Amino acid sequence: MRVLGIETTCDETAAAVVRLEPGGAGQILSNEVMSQIAQHAAYGGVVPEIAARAHIEIIDRLVRRALDRAETKLADLDGIAAAAGPGLIGGVIVGLTTAKALALASRKPFIAVNHLEAHALTARLTDEVEFPYLLLLVSGGHTQLVAVKGVGDYLRLGSTVDDAVGEAFDKVAKMLGLPYPGGPEVEKLAAEGNAARFDLPRPMLGRPKPDFSLSGLKTAVRLEAERITALTATDAADLCASFQAAVVDTIIDRSRAGLRLFRETVGPANAMVVAGGVAANGAIRRALMRFCGESGLRLIMPPPHLCTDNGAMIAWAGIERLSLGLIDDMTFAARPRWPL
Ligand code: KG4
Ligand code: ZN
Repeated sequence: MRVLGIETTCDETAAAVVRLEPGGAGQILSNEVMSQIAQHAAYGGVVPEIAARAHIEIIDRLVRRALDRAETKLADLDGIAAAAGPGLIGGVIVGLTTAKALALASRKPFIAVNHLEAHALTARLTDEVEFPYLLLLVSGGHTQLVAVKGVGDYLRLGSTVDDAVGEAFDKVAKMLGLPYPGGPEVEKLAAEGNAARFDLPRPMLGRPKPDFSLSGLKTAVRLEAERITALTATDAADLCASFQAAVVDTIIDRSRAGLRLFRETVGPANAMVVAGGVAANGAIRRALMRFCGESGLRLIMPPPHLCTDNGAMIAWAGIERLSLGLIDDMTFAARPRWPL
């Protein structure tokens, strides 16, 4: 089985072809990603109108390239999948309409994929993990703990009540005059800073429901930065280190609450899976390794290029759905909001 996957929900235009091997493993035949970061950097964040236009300009060529690299013709495909949400509506429409048009023209099944579901299932492509498992999704747009019980069977254990973790990294970076996206910049500075210098809050710590809150922490960083009249490089590094340490504590505490709730409501977990751009952060990765080691839990972190937005995860979710006979019709509309 071979599926084309198209992703356009945020600032990455992506197309990929993934094949399901007879034994159940997935093989990525091509995975084309075009990032729009350069076009948004001047604004310090993603501008929806610029994103939608950039998707339109590149999508046809990108799909062509994904098919060529996979040495696959439209006629060889068993299905065409696109992320139908959640995300920036203009961009979602571009990918969804492209997939529908290709499916109609080639008379192939069309599969509408939930972008979050695709993140949730990627670990089964990379590591063939069995259900159920605990998913920590930490990106610029989403921060959630989810019990992944099966394809289409998800239990959201907790999520952020305000900012996403990546968004908090980006906002702190912006405050300190660092370029967008801020996560990697903050991590770099944090490596040279003193994490004990600023006593920052750890919102939600100890709460049994595994929700997150980041906006109070972000505001605390802003207040500390404003208190310093001429911010030096050392001040900025110390702020980054203190902020990152607070995020690490928060993520581990919330994951612990999430795992407890998972075990109470679902039963034993086969693994903890981490996805989203923030999973690239070394300090967070190391803390999660420690946490899973102590909890007797297998930790799966797909490689960064499959943790961030990509087409292979959409194609793979398409394969998982198609394998169960789950296909969609042409009336399926783009969904700006679509909780799991
Ligand atoms: O998953 P992703 O590529 O895009 C979506 O948001 O869907 O995640 C991007 C987010 C940005 O907020 C970025 O600042 C954050 O992930 N990020 C990081 C790191 N690398 C990327 N945050 C912390 N540390 C990093 N090393
Ligand atoms: Zn994403």
